[in-house]
This record gives sequence, structure tokens and C-alpha cells, in this order.
Amino acid sequence: MQVVEANGARIPQIGLGTMTLKDDVCVQAVKAALKMGYHHLDTAAFYANEKENGEGLRQSGAKREDVFICTKVRQGDLMPDAFAKVLEQSLANLKLPYVDLLLIHWNNPNIPLKLSVGALCKAKKEGKTKHIGVANFTTAMLDEAWSVTSEPLVCNQIEMHPFINQDKVLAACKKHGMAVVAYCPIARGKVPGADALELIGKAHGKSAAQVSLRYLVQMGVCSIPRTATPEHLKQNLDVYDFKLSDAEMAELKKLNVANMRVVNPPHAPQWDTP
Ligand SMILES: NC(=O)c1ccc[n+]([C@@H]2O[C@H](COP(=O)([O-])OP(=O)(O)OC[C@H]3O[C@@H](n4cnc5c(N)ncnc54)[C@H](OP(=O)(O)O)[C@@H]3O)[C@@H](O)[C@H]2O)c1
Repeated sequence: MQVVEANGARIPQIGLGTMTLKDDVCVQAVKAALKMGYHHLDTAAFYANEKENGEGLRQSGAKREDVFICTKVRQGDLMPDAFAKVLEQSLANLKLPYVDLLLIHWNNPNIPLKLSVGALCKAKKEGKTKHIGVANFTTAMLDEAWSVTSEPLVCNQIEMHPFINQDKVLAACKKHGMAVVAYCPIARGKVPGADALELIGKAHGKSAAQVSLRYLVQMGVCSIPRTATPEHLKQNLDVYDFKLSDAEMAELKKLNVANMRVVNPPHAPQWDTP
């Protein structure tokens, strides 16, 4: 298992994203993934599938300590009292006493980071999470979060794939010693069929999705591709037996110019411009 180390955390580099996976589809995907060699699950209160993630974990027979579980608190629940309450609910849903990583899912500009990050730190001090981090934070928000936190922030979970330029946030994460966890690493289905990735894949006997994941691996970031398809689950883990050349990495980097965001809801912050 490849891990990315950051501020005391060891994050398995490839995890299973579970957004939109519901009911038994989610239970079976989690179970199959863990049996196949995954060690990292990504859920959130918002995904309404924490129960199914917990059930899949139990059905897989995997040891709790061998699985890195991340959940997230929504932007409407970041005031300390609400935060503590929803975290209790997340742990009850998962039927676990702690998670490995707890994230602020999206910042809420109406709630000072001192309060929301303070609530994250309290959860860590109380043993309800091993590590804390953020998602969808810009460079300015990262600096501010670090100025108020009493515990290290281990990651920023952000959209990453070859069609987006995240250089500034990557540099800010590096400055703070944080890991980057790439969400939408298959650009939510826009990677398969993309000419450049398909061509590079052909040269290595790999799919376009595997090329995108390998590009992220070589950038040193973690990825949490989502699928419930057994063949795709297997493929997404199988990205360590080939290497993209410098020229191939440069070609993929060139695609960043599209700067396409798959995820850009009304509550998104003012993103860093490339
Ligand atoms: N923090 C945040 O704000 C945030 C936002 C968005 C997502 N996330 C997290 O990141 C995870 C991943 O993002 P995402 O689900 O939006 O998008 P994604 O993983 O980029 O794309 C998922 C799509 O890719 C397809 N796919 C997966 N593996 C494939 C393969 N090997 N070959 C071909 N197609 C493949 C899946 O189809 P099949 O089902 O057919 O395989 C699915 O349609 C989420 O599930 C969630 O856990 C976090």
C-alpha cells in the first residue's frame, strides 16, 4: 500500500470515493474495495451513506485499524455546538468511536475559522478523529486556518484531474506540509474518451482513467475515485506498475489550461486564479 505522509498522518494514496453510492450498492462497493486491497474510504455527512460505509467495513472483515476513514462536516453545521452534534451523528451512523480524518467540507464565510477550526481541533483532542483537515480551501483560507489552529491540518481535499490548474493551492499545501487529496480524479467521467489520455494509456496498456490516477500519483497527491463497478475498482488500484515519462507528464500538464471545474456550487469560495 502506498501512503502519503503529511503532518503526522499516513494517508493511503488511493481511496474509494462514495458520493452518490447509496444503500446496498454502497455497502457492496465498500466491501468489495476493502477485500480487494483498498485501505481508505471517503464519505461525508452530506452523502447520507455513512451507515453503508460502516456496514461495508464490517462485512468486509477488514481490521478497523487497517482502514483510513474520512468523513466531513457540512458548511451549515460549523458552529461548535452544531459541529459536535453532527459529528456524534456521523460516528453513530458509522458505528465507530472515531474516524481517521475529519474535514470541514466547505467553509462557511459567515462563521469565523477560529470557531470552525476550533471545533475540528476539539474533536481531535477528544479522540473522535485521529487527524483533521479541510476541503475546498483556497490559499488565503489555508493561511487563515493555520493562523488559528492548535492542531496540524493534514490535508486539503480539492478537485484535481488533468483538466484543472491547481498549482497555487498545491504550492500552499506544500508550504504547510499538507497532503492534497484529489476529488473527481476521473473528472466525473470526462477522462474516459479524452484523446490525449486514451493515447498515453494505449502506450502503456492502461485505460485513460488509470492514466489520470497515475498522473496524480506522480504529483504526490492522494486520489479518491468513485465507482461501484468491480472492474473499475480493480483498475483504479492498479496504477503502480507503470510510469509516465516526463514528456507524458508535460503533455497532461498542458491540459490544465482548460481549467474546468466539475464542482462549483453556489457556496464555493472565490477560487484562486491560475
Ligand atoms: N470534498 C468535496 O467537496 C468533494 C466533491 C466531490 C467529490 N468528492 C469525493 O470525491 C469522490 C470522487 O469524485 P466524484 O465521485 O465526483 O468523481 P470521479 O471519481 O472523478 O468520477 C466518478 C465517475 O468515474 C467513473 N469511473 C470511475 N473509475 C473508472 C474507471 N476506472 N474507468 C472508467 N470510468 C470510471 C465512474 O463510473 P462507474 O461507476 O461506471 O465506474 C463515475 O461515473 C466522491 O465520490 C467523493 O467521495 C468530494
